[in-house]
Order: sequence, then C-alpha cells, then structure tokens
Amino acid sequence: MPIIYDEKNKIFNLQTPNTSYVIGIYENKLPIHIHYGKRINKTYNIDDMVDFGFRYYRGEGFSVRSVDFDDAISLTALPLEFPTYGSGDYRTPVFHAQYEDGSTISKLYYEGYNIYDGKPKIDGLPATYVESDSEAQTLELYLKDELTGVKVVIRYTAYNDRDVITRSHTIINDGNSVVKLKNVMSGCIHLPDMDYDLVQFSGQWARERHIEKSPLSHGKQSVESLRGASSHIFNPFVCLASKNATEDCGDVYGMNLVYSGNFESGVYVDTHNRTRLYTGINPFDFEWKLDKGECFNTPECVMVYSDSGFSKMSHTYHKLISNRLCRGKYRDIERPVLLNNWEATYFNFDEEKIVNIAKKAAEAGVELLVLDDGWFGERNDDHTSLGDWFVNKEKLPNGISGLAEKINKLGLKFGLWFEPEMISEVSKLYDEHPDWCLHVEGRSRSLGRNQLILDYSRDDVCDYIIETLSDIFANANIEYIKWDMNRNMSEIGSAILPADRQRETAHRYMLGLYRVLETLKARFPHILMEGCSGGGGRFDMGMFYYFDQFWTSDDTDAVERQFIQAGTSYGYPTNVMGAHVSAVPNHQVHRTTDIDTRARVAYSGQFGYELDLGLLSSEEFESVKEQIKFYKKYSSVFHKGDMYRIKSPFEDNMTVWEFVSEDKNTVIVEIFVIKGAPSSPKFVIKLKGLEENCMYRDELTGREYSGEVLMNIGLRRIGNRDYTSEIMILKKI
Ligand code: DGJ
Repeated sequence: MPIIYDEKNKIFNLQTPNTSYVIGIYENKLPIHIHYGKRINKTYNIDDMVDFGFRYYRGEGFSVRSVDFDDAISLTALPLEFPTYGSGDYRTPVFHAQYEDGSTISKLYYEGYNIYDGKPKIDGLPATYVESDSEAQTLELYLKDELTGVKVVIRYTAYNDRDVITRSHTIINDGNSVVKLKNVMSGCIHLPDMDYDLVQFSGQWARERHIEKSPLSHGKQSVESLRGASSHIFNPFVCLASKNATEDCGDVYGMNLVYSGNFESGVYVDTHNRTRLYTGINPFDFEWKLDKGECFNTPECVMVYSDSGFSKMSHTYHKLISNRLCRGKYRDIERPVLLNNWEATYFNFDEEKIVNIAKKAAEAGVELLVLDDGWFGERNDDHTSLGDWFVNKEKLPNGISGLAEKINKLGLKFGLWFEPEMISEVSKLYDEHPDWCLHVEGRSRSLGRNQLILDYSRDDVCDYIIETLSDIFANANIEYIKWDMNRNMSEIGSAILPADRQRETAHRYMLGLYRVLETLKARFPHILMEGCSGGGGRFDMGMFYYFDQFWTSDDTDAVERQFIQAGTSYGYPTNVMGAHVSAVPNHQVHRTTDIDTRARVAYSGQFGYELDLGLLSSEEFESVKEQIKFYKKYSSVFHKGDMYRIKSPFEDNMTVWEFVSEDKNTVIVEIFVIKGAPSSPKFVIKLKGLEENCMYRDELTGREYSGEVLMNIGLRRIGNRDYTSEIMILKKI
C-alpha cells in the first residue's frame, strides 16, 4: 500500500521504501506540497505538518490575498502542487492558459481523487511502466476550473520497491470554448529553504553532460532547450543537493523528464528562501489549442530522493531506466560486441573494404558489424542524399541484403545506420517533396550539417518513413540499427498546420517521432536499436523507451570519455551508454592512449570498436581478442551491478569506478590516471558496497584483501604516467 489517504486530515502520503511524498488539500480546495524526502509513517493535521511559513506570511508584503479561501491567504506563500498563473502566485507556474475572452487566469480547485493499483500508460508518450499492478500504486487528483470548464488530472505513481515517484498531467477541455495552453509543465516540488546546489549536466557536441554545481540564489535558475531536441547543451536531468552532499551523504533530489524535445528544468527561489523545483515542456514558443472535449497529456516527470548522497540516487535511476523504461528483447540480455566502421572509413568504403574489416572483426571475436553513414543515394560526403534510402550500388553492388549475407557468413550479425528524420536539399526526396521539411513559408531555411529536418508533425511524412524503413528491414537480415539525428531545429513551422496551430509543431514533431519509433519497434522486435544525435545530443529518458542504447558522444578519446561517462552516469545507467575503442591518435583530440585504457573506459558502457582492427599491431590485435573475452565474461557486472564513482575526473587527477555485481560476489575496480605527474602524491582508493567481514581475492594477482580493509583503509596508487589505467577483479571468497 504505497499510497495512504488520511480522510480526516485530507492528507495523501505516497510512500516508497525509504521516501514519502506528502500532499495536503488546503481548505478542501487546493492541493499543497507538504513534504518530499525521508519516509513519514503517519499523517497529521496540515497545521502540524507544515511550517512553510504560510502561518507567518499569510499576507506577504505587497502580495495579494485570494478571497476564495476562508483565511484569505496569499497563494505565493503556499507550496502549491499545481501552481497556476493569475491569482497571486508570482513564481514560475506549471500551468498557464488563455481562454476565449482573452483572459489567462485559471482557478483550478480540488474535486476529488482516486487511488488504484498499477500505473497507466500515457497516450502517445514514452513513460516508465510496471509489469504487474502490484508493483506500484497511482493517485489521481482531480481539479476543475468552474468558470472555464477546464479539468486537470494530476497523476502520481509511487513504486513499492524502488524510491521513485512519477508524475504527469492530463488537461481536459470540458468547457464550451477553445482553450489555448501556453504552459503545461510536468511537475514541481517545494522545499522550505534554499540550502541547496543546483546540479546540472551541460556540454556541447563531443563534450556532453559535464557536471556543474551552482548554489541557489533568489530568482530563477534553469536549464532548457529550444533546439527541438533535449540537446548536447543541457540535459533535462537536474538535481538539488544539500550543501554537504557527496556520493554517500546528504540530501539529493533528482528530477528528470521523459521527453526528448524542448524542455525547461529549473528552480525558483522566492524572497523567503523557499524553493520550487520544476520540469516540463519548455513554455517558450509553445502553444496548444485544445478544442472542446479534447485533452492534452504532459510528459512524465520522474523524481528520486536520496538521503545518502548521489550514489544512491544514481542507483535508483539506473535500475528504473534499465528495467522499467527500456523495453523489449534486449532489456534483460547482454548485447553483442559491435564494430562500427565510421571512424575506420568515414564515407570512403565499398563492399570489399567493409567485408575485410568484418573478417578481421570476426577473427577478434566481434559479434556485430555496423555499417554507418554513406551506403545510400549519392552519399559520399555530408552534402547529399538524406531521405534517399536506397542503396548506392557503386559502393555496394550486391545491395544491403547481399552485404548482410556476406557479413552473416563470417558469423557476424549485421547492422545499419539511418538518419530518418532528415532530408538533404540535394536529394530525390526533396525534389519530390520540398514542403516535407520543417519551414516557414517565405523564410529561408537554415542548414545544419547541410541538411533540413523532415516535418514529423505530419502524419503522411511519418507514414512514409515507417513504410520506407520497414521495407528495408524486411528485405535484408538487419539485426541492429543506429538511428542518428545530426542537427537541431530552426524556422519551426509546418506546411499543413493552420496558423493557430503552428506553435504546436515542435511538440507534434515529438509525438510523430515517438509514433514512428513505437511502430518500428513493434514491427521488428528482434532489431537492437541504438539512438544517436551527433553522439549524445538526445540522451534523455524519452529515448530509452524506444532505444536499447544511445551513442554517448562523438568524442571517443579515452580521457574525454571519463568525464562524459562519469557525468552521464549520474542519471543514466552504463547499459544504455554506447562506448567504443577507437584508433589513436584519437580523431577528436589527437591524444594517444594505450589500447587497454581505451577498452577499460568502454567496458563501462555498451562495448564496441570503431576502427579497422586490421591496422593494429599483432600485439594490439591479441589484446583486442582478450578484451572481448573479458568483456563477455564480466559485462553483466558493468551493466547490472551497482556503479560507485570512487574518484571523479571533475575533482581529481584520477577516475575510479567500482562495479559490484548483483549477487555481490564480483567486484571490478577501474583506475584511470588522467595527467601523470612525477613524484605524484598517493591516491587513496576506498572501495564501497563490500561486505566488511568477507575476504576478496584479486583474480589477476591472487592477493587477498578483507572487505573492511578495502573499504576503510583502501588501496594506494600513484599517478605518474599520463592516461594509464588498471583493472582489478575481486571475487568474494
Ligand atoms: C554522427 C554520429 O554521432 C557518428 O557516430 C556518425 O554516425 C556520423 N553522424 C555519421 O554521419
């Protein structure tokens, strides 16, 4: 029973194993947020639970009082569960709409609730799920605006066995006239003080998700995307962390959005130091026309609270994403070790070259050969052919099916690259359908990587893509696809939407994209699907409902990757992070690292190669064979175990990751030196998650250590050589 309703006090207590999310109904009208944090076992009268200041700040200086309440409170003093604009709450709202008379005021008051077992799907949108109704309970709160007829369902789910609370909204136009939604966020919580850092994951192409912390200050601090994708620049995932928070202690609130388009995640701190944390579709340039009888669903917001630091929060997100967001055949099984030809050949390949690369890969133990960009149309560089998804016979005279057969004969699976959301101006598709891209009539069409974006807000465009891809998938033995997306949106408009729906284009695009992905996933359940957006430019929870994994970054350098994968690991599990060994000097930063260090970084993801193994020395080639054997033996420890970030590249000159297997019997420690220094000081590496009274044997050296020594005294290492690494496999005795 994770959701308890105290009828007398009108209090809902959503409980997970260690946390509670408590909502009160203020004066029987207004849902307010009482608590999110450590589990509360009983409920009390609102006044005995809340000291948010509304007793003291009933009428905040220069704030208006709502006469809809007996005690005429200032709404801006209340921790509102569903803050709307217009009646005296001056903080960032989660709801803002315009009505037929031009007004923008909403008074949404409580009408009732429902509690039931399970977790419903969100129509047309990705979301976390349950496999049986006994895994979670859902609370729906019903609100209504008497004047406009607008109704709102706030839907929360509390999981029984994981510290996760999810939330989404449905807005229903039950009135008699059109409603224009201008802002409908997915959720907010309130904290009574501002003693937190905002932790966010910002970056750029090839420098994704670097961790950034900033102290809260009065006003608004947020990250957002207006690019039509969650983007390389900011990620929807944010945390509020108490000032003392470390990997193992302190309060950490994680909030993420299951959405891949424009978002805003942020905080508003008011003058009394109270904090509102929120996330949702970015309201900027968003509008949605809700005709009479229509409804609108928001994406899902996923919250995790940890009372003991970042590590516990990350573990909860890792397990949730791996087991209750990812779906399909590959969710529970280890995936093939792949070799992708992109950095080996770029556009310059033919069948013979690919088959030769595949032969060497097969010899090394690789299981899947992926043919990247350049196999279709006249695609010899990035100026042409996106949209022309027919094979280039000059490069591949036997077609895709012929190449797949040859690859299969070598004992490898075959995978293929696509960029199905794009269209090149130089393409047959563009000649036939110049209005199929996002554009605004009369305006020039800005280019990104020389390409335009197909208008996925249109059903006909989405249907065309579904059929085109289905045809290719059905006619060759394709067992993996890489779905790329290499530019962000501009001149966002659709040729077929009426003027009063143009501002819906970006969100309609996402709904179209999700429909395409859902249909293909259902039609071809055996295909392993990897997402990509110039690396990790759309690495978000929305994507993992469809994609088994995502290419983490176009930067394949082993040192850069430590930062990118460490930052990514705060919110996302290793088993969704595509990670490859590439050639040296590295193509992005020209750094040379040894092949084992490159592999060790890549083990902590979905492992693969991105180079021609035929160009390696025989020693390196032997190492590759060993790496694949090693990875296949231990991949489940990297993917299903608990990951501990023992040392962070953002804070130290060393990165240390530890993985403890699900059964706690195997422990893998990876130690990476970043910049070598002569007479380097010793690093103390204290392991975590072991059993104090057990002994552990190092598989490589045979040396035995006690759990309590490893955790409390630790290992000592020096860092005197650039970019070196070490791996330890400890087995519980
Ligand atoms: C960007 C991707 O991130 C790369 O891995 C590669 O697939 C190229 N696109 C191909 O154009």
